[in-house]
Amino acid sequence: MDKENNSTHEEQNPSCKINPEITRRDFIGTVIRFGLLATLAGMVLPALSYLAPVTKRGPAGGLSDVGGVDDIPVGGGKKVIVAGSAVLVLHTAQGFKAFSAVCTHLGCLVAWDESRHEIVCPCHGGVYDVDGKVVSGPPPRGLPPHEVSVVNGRIMVKA
Ligand code: FES
Repeated sequence: MDKENNSTHEEQNPSCKINPEITRRDFIGTVIRFGLLATLAGMVLPALSYLAPVTKRGPAGGLSDVGGVDDIPVGGGKKVIVAGSAVLVLHTAQGFKAFSAVCTHLGCLVAWDESRHEIVCPCHGGVYDVDGKVVSGPPPRGLPPHEVSVVNGRIMVKA
């Protein structure tokens, strides 16, 4: 046998600093462990973020700025988040009104139907009027109102 073939990699390449303690098996094991850890993190982190409380909250019990008066034309409506809850803001000829956007039947989010001038629930056909009172369908009661005011051209809704 040739002497050169019996020499180690480091003997053949003195400038090379490969650690002889790390075997191919160790290296592949490390790569597999890293891959399993990354996969586990990819599954656990989204679950934890789902369980975390909503962080986009306004001041507790205070007024939340939900936009400028020009953002909602007369006859229009807009869904916003106030202190972590969905709120429907309407701009009527009498001014701004705000209601919980959660249907009192089974909790679907209602929407403003500008053409019908009514608040409608897409789930079971519940209909509310512009004052949040039940017009038809299964909702047992009207939509809870929120206080709304205009301050310096900004629409402010109380949680
Ligand atoms: S959840 Fe709205 S009508 Fe049923």
